[in-house]
Amino acid sequence: MDALKDPSFNMIGLYGMGGTGKTTLASEVERQARDAKLFDVVVMVTVSEKPQIRKIQGKIADVMGMKLEEETVDGRAYRLHQKLKGKEKILVILDNLWAAIELKAIGIPSGDEHKGCKILLTSRNLDVLTSGMGAQKFFKLEPLSEAEAWKLFQITVGNSNTQKMPSLATEVASKCVGIPLAIVTVAKALRNKELHAWKDALKQLSMTSRFDNTGMQAEVYAALELSFDQLLGEEVKLLLLLLPLYLDSSINIECLLRYGVGMGLFGGMDSIEDARNRLLKLIDDLKASCFLQDDDEDGWVKMHEFVQAFAMSIASRAQNAAVVKTGFGLKEFVERHIPNCCTRLSLLLSDIYDLPEDLECPELDFLLVEAFMPCVWIDVSCPT
Ligand SMILES: Nc1ncnc2c1ncn2[C@@H]1O[C@H](COP(=O)(O)OP(=O)(O)O)[C@@H](O)[C@H]1O
Ligand SMILES: [Mg+2]
Repeated sequence: MDALKDPSFNMIGLYGMGGTGKTTLASEVERQARDAKLFDVVVMVTVSEKPQIRKIQGKIADVMGMKLEEETVDGRAYRLHQKLKGKEKILVILDNLWAAIELKAIGIPSGDEHKGCKILLTSRNLDVLTSGMGAQKFFKLEPLSEAEAWKLFQITVGNSNTQKMPSLATEVASKCVGIPLAIVTVAKALRNKELHAWKDALKQLSMTSRFDNTGMQAEVYAALELSFDQLLGEEVKLLLLLLPLYLDSSINIECLLRYGVGMGLFGGMDSIEDARNRLLKLIDDLKASCFLQDDDEDGWVKMHEFVQAFAMSIASRAQNAAVVKTGFGLKEFVERHIPNCCTRLSLLLSDIYDLPEDLECPELDFLLVEAFMPCVWIDVSCPT
Protein backbone atom coordinates (compact mmCIF):
# COMPACT_ATOMS: atom_id res chain seq x y z
CA MET A 1 0.00 0.00 0.00
CA ASP A 2 2.94 2.33 0.69
CA ALA A 3 4.31 1.73 -2.81
CA LEU A 4 0.91 2.63 -4.25
CA LYS A 5 0.99 5.96 -2.43
CA ASP A 6 4.58 6.69 -3.51
CA PRO A 7 4.56 9.07 -6.53
CA SER A 8 7.89 7.70 -7.82
CA PHE A 9 6.33 4.37 -8.82
CA ASN A 10 3.53 3.82 -11.27
CA MET A 11 4.23 0.21 -12.27
CA ILE A 12 4.42 -2.19 -9.35
CA GLY A 13 4.81 -5.95 -9.52
CA LEU A 14 4.02 -8.90 -7.29
CA TYR A 15 5.55 -12.28 -8.09
CA GLY A 16 5.81 -15.73 -6.60
CA MET A 17 5.09 -19.32 -7.51
CA GLY A 18 1.53 -20.46 -8.18
CA GLY A 19 -0.62 -20.90 -5.09
CA THR A 20 1.39 -18.50 -2.89
CA GLY A 21 -1.50 -16.04 -2.71
CA LYS A 22 -0.81 -13.38 -5.37
CA THR A 23 -4.44 -13.16 -6.48
CA THR A 24 -5.65 -13.14 -2.87
CA LEU A 25 -3.24 -10.34 -1.95
CA ALA A 26 -4.06 -8.31 -5.07
CA SER A 27 -7.79 -8.60 -4.24
CA GLU A 28 -7.05 -7.36 -0.74
CA VAL A 29 -5.13 -4.39 -2.17
CA GLU A 30 -8.12 -3.68 -4.41
CA ARG A 31 -10.46 -3.78 -1.43
CA GLN A 32 -8.28 -1.55 0.78
CA ALA A 33 -7.65 0.96 -2.02
CA ARG A 34 -11.42 1.19 -2.58
CA ASP A 35 -12.27 1.48 1.13
CA ALA A 36 -9.64 4.17 1.71
CA LYS A 37 -10.80 6.02 -1.44
CA LEU A 38 -7.19 6.35 -2.63
CA PHE A 39 -8.25 6.39 -6.30
CA ASP A 40 -11.14 7.64 -8.43
CA VAL A 41 -11.22 4.30 -10.25
CA VAL A 42 -10.04 0.88 -8.99
CA VAL A 43 -10.28 -2.08 -11.32
CA MET A 44 -8.86 -5.60 -11.14
CA VAL A 45 -8.84 -7.93 -14.15
CA THR A 46 -7.49 -11.41 -14.77
CA VAL A 47 -5.14 -11.67 -17.71
CA SER A 48 -4.02 -15.36 -17.66
CA GLU A 49 -2.34 -17.47 -20.32
CA LYS A 50 -4.32 -16.34 -23.35
CA PRO A 51 -5.27 -12.72 -22.67
CA GLN A 52 -8.69 -11.84 -24.01
CA ILE A 53 -8.30 -8.15 -24.72
CA ARG A 54 -12.02 -7.56 -25.43
CA LYS A 55 -12.97 -9.11 -22.10
CA ILE A 56 -10.36 -7.06 -20.23
CA GLN A 57 -11.60 -3.89 -21.93
CA GLY A 58 -15.19 -4.85 -21.09
CA LYS A 59 -14.39 -5.30 -17.41
CA ILE A 60 -12.66 -1.91 -17.18
CA ALA A 61 -15.58 -0.27 -19.02
CA ASP A 62 -18.08 -1.88 -16.62
CA VAL A 63 -16.24 -0.46 -13.62
CA MET A 64 -16.17 2.98 -15.28
CA GLY A 65 -19.90 2.70 -15.97
CA MET A 66 -19.44 3.07 -19.74
CA LYS A 67 -20.59 1.00 -22.68
CA LEU A 68 -18.10 0.18 -25.41
CA GLU A 69 -19.93 -0.06 -28.69
CA GLU A 70 -16.94 0.03 -31.03
CA GLU A 71 -16.51 -2.98 -33.30
CA THR A 72 -12.74 -3.23 -33.19
CA VAL A 73 -10.38 -3.81 -30.30
CA ASP A 74 -8.39 -0.71 -31.39
CA GLY A 75 -11.50 1.43 -31.43
CA ARG A 76 -12.45 0.25 -27.96
CA ALA A 77 -8.88 0.87 -26.75
CA TYR A 78 -8.99 4.46 -28.03
CA ARG A 79 -12.28 5.20 -26.24
CA LEU A 80 -11.12 3.62 -22.98
CA HIS A 81 -7.87 5.55 -23.16
CA GLN A 82 -9.72 8.85 -23.59
CA LYS A 83 -12.04 8.10 -20.70
CA LEU A 84 -9.27 6.95 -18.35
CA LYS A 85 -7.18 10.02 -19.14
CA GLY A 86 -10.07 12.11 -17.86
CA LYS A 87 -9.75 10.58 -14.37
CA GLU A 88 -7.13 11.92 -12.02
CA LYS A 89 -6.24 8.84 -9.98
CA ILE A 90 -6.60 5.32 -11.27
CA LEU A 91 -5.49 1.90 -10.05
CA VAL A 92 -5.49 -0.94 -12.57
CA ILE A 93 -4.63 -4.40 -11.23
CA LEU A 94 -3.69 -6.93 -13.91
CA ASP A 95 -3.63 -10.34 -12.29
CA ASN A 96 -1.72 -13.36 -13.54
CA LEU A 97 0.41 -12.22 -16.44
CA TRP A 98 2.06 -15.10 -18.29
CA ALA A 99 3.86 -12.80 -20.69
CA ALA A 100 4.25 -9.08 -21.22
CA ILE A 101 1.13 -7.35 -22.46
CA GLU A 102 0.81 -4.09 -24.34
CA LEU A 103 -1.17 -1.69 -22.20
CA LYS A 104 -1.82 0.62 -25.13
CA ALA A 105 -3.58 -2.18 -27.03
CA ILE A 106 -6.06 -2.43 -24.14
CA GLY A 107 -6.44 1.32 -23.74
CA ILE A 108 -4.68 1.72 -20.39
CA PRO A 109 -2.56 4.88 -20.23
CA SER A 110 0.84 4.38 -18.61
CA GLY A 111 4.11 6.14 -17.78
CA ASP A 112 4.30 9.80 -18.80
CA GLU A 113 0.96 9.57 -20.60
CA HIS A 114 -0.80 9.67 -17.26
CA LYS A 115 1.16 10.04 -14.03
CA GLY A 116 -1.91 9.36 -11.90
CA CYS A 117 -2.50 5.91 -13.38
CA LYS A 118 -0.94 3.20 -11.22
CA ILE A 119 -0.62 -0.34 -12.44
CA LEU A 120 -0.23 -3.34 -10.14
CA LEU A 121 0.82 -6.54 -11.90
CA THR A 122 1.06 -10.10 -10.66
CA SER A 123 2.97 -12.90 -12.32
CA ARG A 124 4.76 -16.14 -11.54
CA ASN A 125 7.72 -14.79 -13.46
CA LEU A 126 9.82 -11.81 -12.35
CA ASP A 127 11.19 -11.25 -15.87
CA VAL A 128 7.68 -10.62 -17.17
CA LEU A 129 7.33 -7.84 -14.61
CA THR A 130 10.75 -6.25 -15.01
CA SER A 131 12.05 -6.62 -18.56
CA GLY A 132 8.60 -7.35 -19.98
CA MET A 133 6.56 -4.59 -18.35
CA GLY A 134 9.17 -2.28 -16.84
CA ALA A 135 7.98 -2.48 -13.22
CA GLN A 136 9.95 -0.01 -11.10
CA LYS A 137 9.14 -1.72 -7.82
CA PHE A 138 8.44 -5.38 -7.18
CA PHE A 139 7.70 -7.67 -4.28
CA LYS A 140 8.20 -11.40 -3.95
CA LEU A 141 5.49 -13.38 -2.26
CA GLU A 142 7.38 -15.98 -0.23
CA PRO A 143 5.81 -19.14 1.19
CA LEU A 144 4.28 -18.61 4.63
CA SER A 145 6.49 -18.97 7.70
CA GLU A 146 5.96 -22.09 9.80
CA ALA A 147 3.87 -20.16 12.34
CA GLU A 148 1.70 -18.50 9.67
CA ALA A 149 1.24 -21.79 7.83
CA TRP A 150 0.15 -23.51 11.03
CA LYS A 151 -2.32 -20.73 11.80
CA LEU A 152 -3.90 -20.95 8.32
CA PHE A 153 -4.05 -24.74 8.58
CA GLN A 154 -5.71 -24.56 12.00
CA ILE A 155 -8.27 -21.96 10.96
CA THR A 156 -9.20 -23.97 7.88
CA VAL A 157 -9.38 -27.41 9.45
CA GLY A 158 -10.98 -26.25 12.71
CA ASN A 159 -9.41 -26.19 16.18
CA SER A 160 -11.17 -29.28 17.52
CA ASN A 161 -9.48 -31.38 14.82
CA THR A 162 -5.95 -30.20 15.52
CA GLN A 163 -6.39 -30.45 19.29
CA LYS A 164 -7.21 -34.17 19.03
CA MET A 165 -3.93 -35.02 17.32
CA PRO A 166 -1.60 -32.03 17.63
CA SER A 167 1.70 -33.61 16.58
CA LEU A 168 0.20 -35.42 13.57
CA ALA A 169 -1.55 -32.21 12.53
CA THR A 170 1.65 -30.13 12.70
CA GLU A 171 3.46 -32.75 10.66
CA VAL A 172 0.73 -32.79 8.00
CA ALA A 173 0.70 -28.97 7.90
CA SER A 174 4.49 -28.80 7.48
CA LYS A 175 4.26 -31.06 4.40
CA CYS A 176 2.47 -28.18 2.65
CA VAL A 177 5.72 -26.13 2.73
CA GLY A 178 4.01 -22.84 3.42
CA ILE A 179 2.06 -22.70 0.17
CA PRO A 180 -1.46 -21.47 0.94
CA LEU A 181 -3.08 -23.41 -1.93
CA ALA A 182 -1.63 -26.67 -0.56
CA ILE A 183 -2.43 -25.80 3.06
CA VAL A 184 -6.06 -24.89 2.38
CA THR A 185 -6.64 -27.90 0.11
CA VAL A 186 -5.23 -30.43 2.56
CA ALA A 187 -6.94 -28.84 5.57
CA LYS A 188 -10.33 -28.90 3.83
CA ALA A 189 -9.87 -32.54 2.84
CA LEU A 190 -9.11 -33.54 6.43
CA ARG A 191 -11.83 -31.59 8.19
CA ASN A 192 -13.69 -33.91 10.62
CA LYS A 193 -11.73 -36.97 9.48
CA GLU A 194 -10.72 -39.84 11.78
CA LEU A 195 -7.18 -40.58 12.95
CA HIS A 196 -6.53 -43.20 10.25
CA ALA A 197 -7.38 -40.66 7.51
CA TRP A 198 -4.83 -38.23 8.98
CA LYS A 199 -2.15 -40.94 9.11
CA ASP A 200 -2.94 -41.94 5.56
CA ALA A 201 -2.76 -38.28 4.47
CA LEU A 202 0.69 -37.92 5.99
CA LYS A 203 1.83 -41.03 4.16
CA GLN A 204 0.39 -39.78 0.86
CA LEU A 205 1.93 -36.34 1.25
CA SER A 206 5.32 -37.94 1.85
CA MET A 207 5.09 -39.85 -1.43
CA THR A 208 5.69 -36.85 -3.64
CA SER A 209 7.48 -39.13 -6.12
CA ARG A 210 4.02 -39.77 -7.61
CA PHE A 211 4.23 -36.23 -8.91
CA ASP A 212 4.17 -36.08 -12.66
CA ASN A 213 5.72 -33.17 -14.41
CA THR A 214 3.00 -30.57 -14.91
CA GLY A 215 5.18 -27.66 -13.93
CA MET A 216 3.86 -27.33 -10.41
CA GLN A 217 5.63 -27.94 -7.15
CA ALA A 218 5.47 -31.55 -5.97
CA GLU A 219 3.91 -30.58 -2.64
CA VAL A 220 1.05 -28.72 -4.31
CA TYR A 221 0.41 -31.65 -6.63
CA ALA A 222 0.43 -34.09 -3.70
CA ALA A 223 -1.97 -31.85 -1.76
CA LEU A 224 -4.40 -31.73 -4.68
CA GLU A 225 -4.14 -35.47 -5.23
CA LEU A 226 -4.93 -36.12 -1.59
CA SER A 227 -7.94 -33.86 -1.78
CA PHE A 228 -9.06 -35.51 -5.04
CA ASP A 229 -8.89 -38.98 -3.44
CA GLN A 230 -11.04 -37.74 -0.56
CA LEU A 231 -13.80 -36.39 -2.81
CA LEU A 232 -16.95 -38.33 -2.22
CA GLY A 233 -18.80 -39.84 -5.17
CA GLU A 234 -17.81 -40.81 -8.66
CA GLU A 235 -19.97 -38.04 -10.20
CA VAL A 236 -18.04 -35.22 -8.57
CA LYS A 237 -14.72 -36.73 -9.66
CA LEU A 238 -15.96 -37.12 -13.24
CA LEU A 239 -17.15 -33.52 -13.24
CA LEU A 240 -13.76 -32.31 -12.04
CA LEU A 241 -12.04 -34.20 -14.85
CA LEU A 242 -14.35 -32.55 -17.39
CA LEU A 243 -13.42 -29.03 -16.26
CA PRO A 244 -9.90 -28.67 -17.75
CA LEU A 245 -11.29 -29.51 -21.18
CA TYR A 246 -13.15 -26.21 -21.05
CA LEU A 247 -9.95 -24.36 -22.16
CA ASP A 248 -10.40 -21.37 -19.89
CA SER A 249 -10.05 -20.80 -16.16
CA SER A 250 -13.45 -19.09 -16.04
CA ILE A 251 -16.12 -21.68 -16.68
CA ASN A 252 -19.70 -20.99 -17.73
CA ILE A 253 -22.08 -23.16 -15.70
CA GLU A 254 -24.71 -23.47 -18.45
CA CYS A 255 -22.02 -24.69 -20.90
CA LEU A 256 -20.90 -27.19 -18.32
CA LEU A 257 -24.49 -28.35 -17.93
CA ARG A 258 -24.66 -29.08 -21.66
CA TYR A 259 -21.36 -30.96 -21.63
CA GLY A 260 -22.37 -32.90 -18.52
CA VAL A 261 -25.76 -33.89 -19.94
CA GLY A 262 -24.12 -34.86 -23.24
CA MET A 263 -21.61 -37.02 -21.41
CA GLY A 264 -24.37 -38.69 -19.38
CA LEU A 265 -22.88 -37.37 -16.17
CA PHE A 266 -26.19 -36.87 -14.41
CA GLY A 267 -27.73 -40.28 -14.93
CA GLY A 268 -31.32 -40.78 -13.85
CA MET A 269 -32.29 -37.11 -14.17
CA ASP A 270 -35.67 -36.54 -15.82
CA SER A 271 -35.29 -32.92 -16.83
CA ILE A 272 -32.70 -30.23 -17.48
CA GLU A 273 -33.91 -28.56 -14.28
CA ASP A 274 -33.02 -31.70 -12.28
CA ALA A 275 -29.64 -31.94 -14.01
CA ARG A 276 -28.92 -28.25 -13.32
CA ASN A 277 -29.70 -28.69 -9.63
CA ARG A 278 -27.45 -31.75 -9.50
CA LEU A 279 -24.65 -29.84 -11.24
CA LEU A 280 -24.98 -26.91 -8.81
CA LYS A 281 -24.74 -29.33 -5.89
CA LEU A 282 -21.58 -30.93 -7.36
CA ILE A 283 -20.10 -27.46 -7.95
CA ASP A 284 -20.77 -26.65 -4.28
CA ASP A 285 -18.87 -29.82 -3.32
CA LEU A 286 -15.93 -28.78 -5.50
CA LYS A 287 -15.96 -25.28 -4.04
CA ALA A 288 -15.98 -26.68 -0.51
CA SER A 289 -12.90 -28.76 -1.36
CA CYS A 290 -11.07 -25.77 -2.89
CA PHE A 291 -11.14 -27.11 -6.47
CA LEU A 292 -13.42 -24.30 -7.66
CA GLN A 293 -13.94 -20.69 -6.70
CA ASP A 294 -16.68 -18.15 -7.30
CA ASP A 295 -16.14 -16.00 -10.37
CA ASP A 296 -16.78 -12.26 -10.56
CA GLU A 297 -19.72 -12.91 -12.87
CA ASP A 298 -22.91 -14.73 -11.89
CA GLY A 299 -23.33 -18.06 -13.62
CA TRP A 300 -19.59 -18.65 -13.87
CA VAL A 301 -17.02 -20.42 -11.69
CA LYS A 302 -13.25 -20.12 -11.63
CA MET A 303 -10.46 -22.66 -11.39
CA HIS A 304 -6.90 -21.97 -10.19
CA GLU A 305 -4.44 -22.68 -13.00
CA PHE A 306 -2.64 -25.31 -10.90
CA VAL A 307 -5.90 -27.07 -10.12
CA GLN A 308 -6.65 -27.05 -13.82
CA ALA A 309 -3.21 -28.48 -14.66
CA PHE A 310 -3.67 -31.10 -11.95
CA ALA A 311 -7.14 -32.13 -13.19
CA MET A 312 -5.78 -32.29 -16.74
CA SER A 313 -2.94 -34.59 -15.72
CA ILE A 314 -5.41 -36.98 -14.07
CA ALA A 315 -7.80 -36.76 -17.03
CA SER A 316 -5.03 -37.53 -19.51
CA ARG A 317 -3.90 -40.50 -17.44
CA ALA A 318 -7.31 -41.92 -16.53
CA GLN A 319 -9.34 -41.03 -19.62
CA ASN A 320 -6.77 -40.44 -22.35
CA ALA A 321 -8.00 -36.87 -22.54
CA ALA A 322 -5.99 -34.28 -24.48
CA VAL A 323 -6.03 -30.53 -24.88
CA VAL A 324 -4.29 -28.79 -27.76
CA LYS A 325 -3.98 -25.07 -27.20
CA THR A 326 -1.45 -24.03 -29.75
CA GLY A 327 -2.27 -23.08 -33.29
CA PHE A 328 1.28 -23.30 -34.49
CA GLY A 329 2.13 -26.69 -35.95
CA LEU A 330 -1.23 -28.12 -34.95
CA LYS A 331 -1.39 -30.60 -37.79
CA GLU A 332 1.92 -32.16 -36.86
CA PHE A 333 1.09 -32.05 -33.18
CA VAL A 334 -2.25 -33.80 -33.59
CA GLU A 335 -0.80 -36.47 -35.88
CA ARG A 336 2.10 -37.16 -33.56
CA HIS A 337 0.72 -36.64 -30.10
CA ILE A 338 -2.99 -37.40 -30.08
CA PRO A 339 -3.17 -41.10 -29.39
CA ASN A 340 -5.73 -43.25 -31.22
CA CYS A 341 -7.17 -44.22 -27.87
CA CYS A 342 -7.97 -40.56 -27.03
CA THR A 343 -11.49 -40.33 -25.59
CA ARG A 344 -11.75 -36.60 -24.94
CA LEU A 345 -10.23 -33.87 -27.00
CA SER A 346 -10.31 -30.07 -26.86
CA LEU A 347 -8.78 -28.02 -29.64
CA LEU A 348 -8.22 -24.31 -29.37
CA LEU A 349 -7.76 -23.23 -32.95
CA SER A 350 -6.27 -19.78 -32.92
CA ASP A 351 -4.52 -18.59 -36.11
CA ILE A 352 -4.30 -22.02 -37.69
CA TYR A 353 -4.81 -23.01 -41.24
CA ASP A 354 -3.40 -26.51 -41.20
CA LEU A 355 -6.11 -28.70 -39.76
CA PRO A 356 -5.19 -32.36 -39.93
CA GLU A 357 -6.93 -34.17 -42.78
CA ASP A 358 -7.66 -37.19 -40.70
CA LEU A 359 -8.08 -37.70 -37.04
CA GLU A 360 -8.52 -41.35 -36.21
CA CYS A 361 -9.89 -41.55 -32.70
CA PRO A 362 -12.50 -44.32 -32.67
CA GLU A 363 -12.89 -44.04 -28.89
CA LEU A 364 -13.61 -40.30 -28.92
CA ASP A 365 -16.75 -39.33 -27.01
CA PHE A 366 -16.03 -35.65 -26.34
CA LEU A 367 -14.76 -33.13 -28.88
CA LEU A 368 -14.63 -29.42 -28.17
CA VAL A 369 -13.41 -27.05 -30.86
CA GLU A 370 -12.93 -23.38 -30.17
CA ALA A 371 -12.01 -21.41 -33.27
CA PHE A 372 -11.38 -17.73 -33.82
CA MET A 373 -11.64 -18.17 -37.57
CA PRO A 374 -14.87 -17.34 -39.39
CA CYS A 375 -15.42 -20.93 -40.41
CA VAL A 376 -13.83 -24.31 -39.81
CA TRP A 377 -15.00 -27.29 -41.82
CA ILE A 378 -14.90 -30.50 -39.88
CA ASP A 379 -16.19 -33.69 -41.40
CA VAL A 380 -17.21 -36.03 -38.66
CA SER A 381 -18.02 -39.59 -39.47
CA CYS A 382 -19.23 -41.94 -36.82
CA PRO A 383 -18.85 -45.64 -37.51
CA THR A 384 -21.77 -46.59 -35.28
N1 LIG B 1 -3.24 -14.91 2.95
C1 LIG B 1 -4.05 -15.96 2.76
N2 LIG B 1 -4.88 -16.38 3.73
C2 LIG B 1 -5.70 -17.42 3.55
N3 LIG B 1 -5.76 -18.15 2.42
C3 LIG B 1 -4.98 -17.80 1.42
C4 LIG B 1 -4.08 -16.69 1.52
N4 LIG B 1 -3.41 -16.57 0.35
C5 LIG B 1 -3.88 -17.56 -0.43
N5 LIG B 1 -4.81 -18.30 0.19
C6 LIG B 1 -5.52 -19.48 -0.34
O1 LIG B 1 -4.69 -20.11 -1.31
C7 LIG B 1 -5.37 -20.25 -2.56
C8 LIG B 1 -4.42 -19.87 -3.67
O2 LIG B 1 -4.13 -18.50 -3.60
P1 LIG B 1 -4.06 -17.56 -4.88
O3 LIG B 1 -4.15 -16.15 -4.39
O4 LIG B 1 -5.03 -17.99 -5.91
O5 LIG B 1 -2.57 -17.88 -5.38
P2 LIG B 1 -1.80 -17.39 -6.67
O6 LIG B 1 -2.59 -16.28 -7.26
O7 LIG B 1 -0.45 -16.96 -6.17
O8 LIG B 1 -1.67 -18.58 -7.56
C9 LIG B 1 -6.59 -19.34 -2.48
O9 LIG B 1 -7.69 -19.95 -3.03
C10 LIG B 1 -6.82 -19.13 -1.01
O10 LIG B 1 -7.74 -20.10 -0.58
MG1 LIG C 1 -3.47 -16.19 -9.17
